[in-house]
Amino acid sequence: MIDVLLGLQWGDEGKGKIVDYFAKDYDVVARFQGGPNAGHTLYVADKKIVLHQIPSGVFHTNKLNFIGNGVVLDPVVLKKECDTVASFGVDLKKTLFIAERAHLILPTHRALDKAAEASKGQQKIGSTLKGISPTYMDKTGRNGLRVGDLLDKNFTTAYIKLRLKHQKLLDNYAFSDDITAWEEEFFEALEFLKQLNIVNGESFINKQLQAGKKVLAEGAQGSMLDIDFGTFPFVTSSNTISAGVCSGLGVAPQKIRDVIGVTKAYCTRVGAGPFPTELDNEVGEALRKTGNEFGATTGRPRRCGWIDLVALKFACMINGVTSIVMTKADVLDAFRELEVCTAYKVNGKETDEIPFRIDRQDVQPVYKKFAGWDKPSSAAKTAKELPDTMTTYVNFINQYLGVNIQYISNGPGRDQLISLGK
Ligand code: GDP
Ligand code: IMO
Ligand code: MG
Repeated sequence: MIDVLLGLQWGDEGKGKIVDYFAKDYDVVARFQGGPNAGHTLYVADKKIVLHQIPSGVFHTNKLNFIGNGVVLDPVVLKKECDTVASFGVDLKKTLFIAERAHLILPTHRALDKAAEASKGQQKIGSTLKGISPTYMDKTGRNGLRVGDLLDKNFTTAYIKLRLKHQKLLDNYAFSDDITAWEEEFFEALEFLKQLNIVNGESFINKQLQAGKKVLAEGAQGSMLDIDFGTFPFVTSSNTISAGVCSGLGVAPQKIRDVIGVTKAYCTRVGAGPFPTELDNEVGEALRKTGNEFGATTGRPRRCGWIDLVALKFACMINGVTSIVMTKADVLDAFRELEVCTAYKVNGKETDEIPFRIDRQDVQPVYKKFAGWDKPSSAAKTAKELPDTMTTYVNFINQYLGVNIQYISNGPGRDQLISLGK
């Protein structure tokens, strides 16, 4: 049986913390898409750790962690991360398994990402520059190199061939950065990668399932960044939604049980693209400051705004969300009045659907106002201690979405998660 945990907004909903919390109830935690564009923050023994490639269950003993075929893997990032994790006494040679079908991010993919973004000027996506889009392009273009290719004697020849192809593209962009150092660390990291457990991923995960093991699939990015259903073209290059679990791990849809959606109590977005409830004012600034809203991967300030129920309901529909975790409720402690977007006015007409290209339309959010919390929430340990006004807020959202918020996260700490028992 597989449960899925994924983001319902534009990423950074707090997935890392929640996966770390839930991992105790599972045998395997698996990443199924994305790559080091992800930055999942968790706290272990009060130390902050940001994971980019390794699943967030890694700090639990007796659990396995799996990087599925749908992930794009940068060996350099992986090696650095493995070193960090090893300093906490985790032996990844025993607990981490990597699908041989996962595509490799090459240094030239990172260069191409940088060159392509620079060439877009004002139209740039605001990519994390981790090489995600060029690597997925080489996957769908049937050019890419995969983790399993590393074990082939012709790997270097294949690498040189692809590198030459990339060089022509880079020349077209007039890209002239010297990437020799990147290549050196890449080849060093490949030697490290070869020592890890490279497996037939689909066989690995299905054997786990046949043996009755419980798998938690950990999403990266968020539903509104999905390549098909997000705010295209301001999206990432993979299917971030629950459908991506089947193709990203090699499992049948019948194996999926719960789909746990994570949303902030408000909303953020990092990078370019439409964001109807964005607050480009002092309220947005206060959300960013109080919520410490700076990218975990790039350090960029996150754009902040009120919670968007139109987008959330859409995400619940596309993913088949069965329960919700609402994070960063404590951040709203600082606000006397809250707003919730219940509809969009598109070119003057009210709708609860997401328009085809939000960025090309005049989209105005329609808000319902709520009172802020009648007492601080961050110290609460049980549902009873949460503010009454928060219950009103939660009940309204539950009713609107037709799916219940089952947990409230009221701080970044490992144990700051309250079950509402619904
Ligand atoms: P992810 O990419 O979805 O894993 O989220 P990030 O780690 O990029 O960003 C979430 C940020 O919020 C991290 O800095 C977390 O430590 C922090 N965080 C998570 N849950 C809470 C919460 O309930 N309250 C507060 N104040 N911070 C939280
Ligand atoms: P986690 O897993 C937030 C955004 C980038 C950019 C767009 C495309 O931590 O939630 P890419 O590098 O994928 O080509 O960038 O997607 N983006 C994220 N935003 N959280 C993430 O991951 C993101 N991964 C990519 O900012 O707008
Ligand atoms: Mg993040």
